[in-house]
Amino acid sequence: MAKPVLLVTRKLPEAIEARAARDYDARLNPDDAMWATDGAEIARRATEAGAAGVLGAAGDKLDAACIGGLPDSVKIITTFSVGFDHVDLSAAKARGIAVTNTPDVLSFATAETAFTLLLTAARRAGEGERMVRAGKWEGWAPTQLLGVTLEGKRLGILGMGRIGRELAAMTRGFRMEVHYRDVQPLPPEMEQGAIYHAADDAFLGAIDILSMHIPGGEATRKWLNAERIARMKPGSIVINSGRGTTVDDEALIAALRSGHLRAAGLDVYDGEPRVHPGYLELENVALLPHLGSATIETRDAMGRRALENLDAVLLHNTAPPHRVV
Ligand code: DGY
Repeated sequence: MAKPVLLVTRKLPEAIEARAARDYDARLNPDDAMWATDGAEIARRATEAGAAGVLGAAGDKLDAACIGGLPDSVKIITTFSVGFDHVDLSAAKARGIAVTNTPDVLSFATAETAFTLLLTAARRAGEGERMVRAGKWEGWAPTQLLGVTLEGKRLGILGMGRIGRELAAMTRGFRMEVHYRDVQPLPPEMEQGAIYHAADDAFLGAIDILSMHIPGGEATRKWLNAERIARMKPGSIVINSGRGTTVDDEALIAALRSGHLRAAGLDVYDGEPRVHPGYLELENVALLPHLGSATIETRDAMGRRALENLDAVLLHNTAPPHRVV
């Protein structure tokens, strides 16, 4: 029997591409050419290939027009990401196409990225690194690049899902006090002593550092705006490793410029890979290029998870384990 055709939109880890090529008639993207940012092009390639499945990724334009243009042969779209704000779920549902993602396996790595930004922002590590590289370091000085310690600080986790909880566990070694804001409190065994806040104002006013772990999409667009920033204590720090759309960039930049916020650490951007030019002028913001889940181990695990979903639908005619719609 002919293998099902699988359209793979981005270059994936070697072992994942090898497994995809073994089990599917896989149409790979060896050069990582960026055609998947054009939804019409995804639909065109899927139609030309007679694809049964599309293995996409964060940043692909899997919007309503793209999904509407897919051939009837497509049974499943799986995204190589936990986030699925780039996929129009209603359009997929209307066409009876399953959408799956790759949860759990990237929680620790993404929390590590948030923690990297926490330390980088609090201890001014980005500024220090730039100073050394630029040949501007003139030697140790008692008052040079003084940051703030994480010890004893109140960390506020916005969105206490899998990634938020991994971050909470990591910060315990730093003797931080963990607060969190979510739609409802977690059971005590998952809360692990973290303090729940049922309202934004009380949450923002209680913390020294905000780490954002909420999904993208219209419901959370520009959640961190000027009004909420004003509720934060002077000298607070903001970290975002969730989705860039959840921050009002103008408001964050203004607060970093004025000094109301001490520093920020960002891994994600509204409209990425475009980065608001205001951030580039600021020393007190650490900027990473969406490294959240970028470890060798995690990207392999995400690939395996994506293939488990595809295999279930296309090879075994069973329910995919990580279906979002
Ligand atoms: C995800 O999985 O949603 C990440 O943002 C991609 O690394």
